[in-house]
Amino acid sequence: MLVTSRSYAEYEAMFDLKELPDSVLDSCAGGASFTAEAAARGVDAIAVDPAYELEPAELVDTVRRSLPATSGIVDEHQGSFVWHWYGSPQRKDEYRIEAADRFLQDIEIAPERYIAAGLPELPFGDRRFELVLCSHLLFTWADKYDQEWHAAALRELIRVSNHEVRVFPLVMQGAGDPIPWLPELLESLEGVTSEIRKVPYEFQAGANEMLVVTRT
Ligand SMILES: C[S@@+](CC[C@H](N)C(=O)[O-])C[C@H]1O[C@@H](n2cnc3c(N)ncnc32)[C@H](O)[C@@H]1O
Repeated sequence: MLVTSRSYAEYEAMFDLKELPDSVLDSCAGGASFTAEAAARGVDAIAVDPAYELEPAELVDTVRRSLPATSGIVDEHQGSFVWHWYGSPQRKDEYRIEAADRFLQDIEIAPERYIAAGLPELPFGDRRFELVLCSHLLFTWADKYDQEWHAAALRELIRVSNHEVRVFPLVMQGAGDPIPWLPELLESLEGVTSEIRKVPYEFQAGANEMLVVTRT
């Protein structure tokens, strides 16, 4: 699986973020710069990802290799992507390179913000974060992780959230196939309401919705 580096601007759009609450968890954060940028805005921001177990040089290499690899996937499925949000492939690459740089700087100067762990078990107490985000793991990799794993992962994200969990996108990687068992999964959740909400971002064609799960 790729350890990609989406930027703060991409997170803002994918999750339709207006204001950030006091505390935010970026789960499966990879090389994203969201945590660095949110922390710079005074937010108690934490990133979690199993990739943070890697030795520093290996992590740098893994993050740097994700950009050409992502471009390869896009080239392979050209008709499945749209460019109106990015404007051009060059602009997308600029976002990702800037984000990777920012992430790699931040993990060096503030390693306490980056926790090595993986779903479906996170090393945080119940209701630790006001907002929990998950970009491009759940549903994206539904060919790797099954419905049961997704249910356990989503329950864990809800457990560590005090208010809301947001997940983007709701389709599989590559061609963007839909997730046939998504309605059944949402039905099975307890103590929450779930909503599929449109967002001002689209890259995989038609993937312009996030899942918002709110504690009741
Ligand atoms: C495609 S990247 C997305 C990174 C970032 N959120 C972004 O949008 O650019 C998927 C990330 O999920 C991480 N990952 C894989 N298995 C995981 C698990 N069980 N729990 C949490 N993260 C996981 C990978 O290490 C990788 O960094």
